[in-house]
Amino acid sequence: MARFTGKVVLITGGAGGIGRAAAVRFASEGARVVLVDLAAATLRQSVAAVEKVDGEVLGVEADVTRVADVEKYAEAAVKRFGGVDVFFNNAGVLGALKPLVDYPEDTFDRVIAVNLKAVWLGMKVVTPLLRARGGGAIVNTASIAGLRGSPNIIAYTASKHAVVGMTRTASLELARHNIRVNAVCPAPIETPMAQQLETEIKRERLTATIPMRRYGAPEEVAALVAFLASPDATYITGAIYTVDGGAMA
Ligand SMILES: NC(=O)c1ccc[n+]([C@@H]2O[C@H](COP(=O)([O-])OP(=O)(O)OC[C@H]3O[C@@H](n4cnc5c(N)ncnc54)[C@H](O)[C@@H]3O)[C@@H](O)[C@H]2O)c1
Repeated sequence: MARFTGKVVLITGGAGGIGRAAAVRFASEGARVVLVDLAAATLRQSVAAVEKVDGEVLGVEADVTRVADVEKYAEAAVKRFGGVDVFFNNAGVLGALKPLVDYPEDTFDRVIAVNLKAVWLGMKVVTPLLRARGGGAIVNTASIAGLRGSPNIIAYTASKHAVVGMTRTASLELARHNIRVNAVCPAPIETPMAQQLETEIKRERLTATIPMRRYGAPEEVAALVAFLASPDATYITGAIYTVDGGAMA
């Protein structure tokens, strides 16, 4: 299976659980991978994980909310690998776990900056690179919190609903450029973010709302992302895919 031989895949949030699993998956299928993250130490671990499967990989330390950093990671991808074919626009933060009346304003602004504005900024800067290759694929990471209400994470819910909307709009604008844009909506996945959720909500309460009665593995999200970015999905764009053990069924 080498669906991505000769392709360059750019992943934000590459130091995180889902980003790292996606990086390993894409590299195992032949891609050269660029990993972007704020967290330098865990980014190095992701780079090592890709090298372990004999992947070619570049790590770029960048804050996805800053346009200069977004331009920096895009330029780094071009400089090292000559362009970008797939953009996994995935960095995100959970923010506070508080009722909306107690939710801190600065946290609200930060969550919107990372999960919403930076998703747009990424698409804004990377789209011309995909066009330069004659087309490509974007996969944005939303969440089941982008499809329904979730108490005590008002900013996260708003930002992930926005990712769904931006994905649909981008797919309409970019179809004529041969760029497909889709979103994935995971339920809780075994990553540091889910651990943060568990500081307030017991795991049993979360899994009780999932028909399969377990969290997902990052690799299960990575498999869907790779499918959506691959030549197996050439007629799929503007689609919002759950990967949630049946939670939204
Ligand atoms: N884990 C879950 O339960 C779950 C469920 C649904 C959706 N998601 C989404 O999946 C995506 C990936 O999250 P994850 O589960 O791998 O969590 P994670 O916390 O392991 O990874 C998120 C990564 O994003 C990075 N990041 C945050 N802000 C950044 C910034 N400003 N610039 C650059 N990098 C930044 C973090 O450093 C981290 O490495 C997120 O968008 C998240 O909202 C996660």
